[in-house]
Amino acid sequence: MFRRFRRTRLNGALRDMLQETHVRKEDLIYPLFIKAGENLKEEVASMPGVFQLSLDKLEPELDEIKALGLRSVILFGIPAVKDSVGSDALCEHGIIAEAIRKVKAYAPELLVITDLCFCEYTDHGHCGIIDHVHETVDNDKTLEILADQALVHARAGADMIAPSGMMDGTIEELRSALDANGFENLPIMAYSTKFASAYYGPFRDVAESAPSFGDRRSYQMNPANLREAVAESIEDEMQGADILMVKPALAYLDVVRKIKDATTLPMAVYNVSGEYAMLKTAAKAGIIDYERILMETMLSFKRAGADLIITYHAKEVATLLDGKKL
Ligand code: PBG
Ligand code: ZN
Repeated sequence: MFRRFRRTRLNGALRDMLQETHVRKEDLIYPLFIKAGENLKEEVASMPGVFQLSLDKLEPELDEIKALGLRSVILFGIPAVKDSVGSDALCEHGIIAEAIRKVKAYAPELLVITDLCFCEYTDHGHCGIIDHVHETVDNDKTLEILADQALVHARAGADMIAPSGMMDGTIEELRSALDANGFENLPIMAYSTKFASAYYGPFRDVAESAPSFGDRRSYQMNPANLREAVAESIEDEMQGADILMVKPALAYLDVVRKIKDATTLPMAVYNVSGEYAMLKTAAKAGIIDYERILMETMLSFKRAGADLIITYHAKEVATLLDGKKL
């Protein structure tokens, strides 16, 4: 048998033609933080380039997103008033409902995804209703109001709901509530495998959602567990999720691959705030080639099996894909 001692090195056209993985603008989902109030455009100290915007500042932002060829945004609301049950999230005129209507009215071609959780709306910063005896979130009481919150988003015109609170039974509960109210075709992107991660630190600044006591370890997953991580996502697939997700992304690419091989559903990764802040800080310090590291990072998500990437870098990636410099 003939055995060649080295592989042919490929250059130019053939190298491009045989590239296995690509990052496309269609893969990207850009997070937007909408804050109650007027004339607000406040950069988050720990996340340069990420802003809290009030509704009246949304149009130029949407113009920019469209001009870059991005197709989708995920919305987070920061209400004027927080209380123990997150009432603003349940109100037809709460910040998130108003934001959905505004985006759909101004940019109907953008796919509007909504983060569905209570931690941005509760005064204690936890993802649902508190069980004071056990000092944790009451799973089943939270499910009931999550369904109400999902219907608020759906009626306001959301194109996809993304529950992020990791309550057991969420997908089944939401699917039946949506179906029963005429939203049979509204897809659900489950934050299906979400780890209790220190990488969310800067997000809690921007969303003003740090828990006032305890942490989220009782409902988010142990970063040490791979089998459990797969089981959580497959559970959401069985309950009717349309897209699965792993969050954070970069430290969990093995998890992405393992779930990808175990499901036929599309998958998303959430390239979270801490990952963003690390690249930004290193770039500012002049110690990395930011543009190359950024694209290499995005490619790694796709190679691991992600179909979609939620990322604060989306505008930058779109710019680079256009062949421009940042
Ligand atoms: C809300 C939510 C969080 C993130 C996305 N949705 C915060 C959390 O779970 O604490 C984190 C995103 C990021 O860090 O960029 N539940
Ligand atoms: Zn939450």
